[in-house]
Amino acid sequence: MPSVVPQPVVAKLTRAAVFLIVNINSGTENEIAVRGLCADLSALLRAVGFRDLQGRLSCVMGIGSDAWDRLFGAPRPQYLHPFREIRGVHHAVSTPGDILFHIRSTRMDLCFELAAQIMSRLGAAVSTVDEVHGFQYFDDRDLLGFVDGTENPSDQDAINAAIIGDEDASFVGGSYVIVQKYLHDLKKWDAVPVAEQENIIGRAKLSNIEQDDAQKAPFAHNVLTTITEDGNQLQIVRDNMPFGEIGKGEFGTYFIGYARSPHRIEEMLDNMFIGRPPGNYDRLLDFSRAVTGVLFFVPSASFLDEVKPESATQIADVQGAAPPPTDRHLSRSTKSDGSLGIGSLNDEAKHE
Ligand code: HEM
Repeated sequence: MPSVVPQPVVAKLTRAAVFLIVNINSGTENEIAVRGLCADLSALLRAVGFRDLQGRLSCVMGIGSDAWDRLFGAPRPQYLHPFREIRGVHHAVSTPGDILFHIRSTRMDLCFELAAQIMSRLGAAVSTVDEVHGFQYFDDRDLLGFVDGTENPSDQDAINAAIIGDEDASFVGGSYVIVQKYLHDLKKWDAVPVAEQENIIGRAKLSNIEQDDAQKAPFAHNVLTTITEDGNQLQIVRDNMPFGEIGKGEFGTYFIGYARSPHRIEEMLDNMFIGRPPGNYDRLLDFSRAVTGVLFFVPSASFLDEVKPESATQIADVQGAAPPPTDRHLSRSTKSDGSLGIGSLNDEAKHE
């Protein structure tokens, strides 16, 4: 039975990550260079990752809305569009970015090496827009001191939340990812009593125990980011990472959220920045400012493997022929990086 292998979107949380965003320079030769990398990415990953398999090196490549047209043309992923800025009580900015590389490992040296190999391969074809090196901070805490990631779905639930099923037949096995770089005003945050910080997040700071629903403030972060459709919770897969530069006084959280449709992440952002109801916004944003915001489509690994460096139209032809049958019971496969293929995708959020 044919199987589509997703990129390692649902890889387990790691100790280190590099978030690299680049723009493709103008000129068809640069588009050819980027397309050339697509099919070779898995070989680069194997070459670096094999040097320490315990390091669980993985890389997810995402493609921005404009870049998709330049690289692949039609068909387009159903919900791919530029990140929509939000002007609410706080401002979610929309910033440029053609390609995202989300590189994760238990070792920063492996992340660093893979990023360097990718950039050396792309050479003058791209210009770096943003590069963030994230690290694990104690027991998976953000720099505000709270454990971040607890309610993330895992295993099949993560696949159901993040990987596209037959709702977009040409892009089965794909995903959407939104990234935002947040800078914290730690001086202001640290002046807030811990009990108040806990009400802002909706969890106890030291023990990480979730507050009772009755106790939670209506503006708690975990209230505003809990969304439902037809009574079912719509989940996303997050892998936020702390980062910073002490000398510059920069302390941040790199937010990264994957989902099978961008709508659910956008709804969470609306709740946070505008409020649910409007005005009941996320108080976290009084202390954390979003300085970037980009949406990417993450094609399946099978899609990337099929890309040829030739023109976008040729690629569209190749891809037009390539999509696998929309089989609801795609066989489960395991890649060398340990990521799962899609197994029996369920109906979660088919109507988004
Ligand atoms: C400054 C940026 C952010 C920080 C420091 C942060 C931190 C946290 C923390 C500490 C938790 C509680 C533990 C957990 O379940 O992970 C949490 C939960 C969560 N966050 Fe964030 N977050 C940030 C931005 C965002 C954004 C932008 C989104 C979505 C657009 C988001 C979505 C969620 C979701 C879905 C949960 C789980 C809610 C639940 O089911 O209980 N977060 N976040």
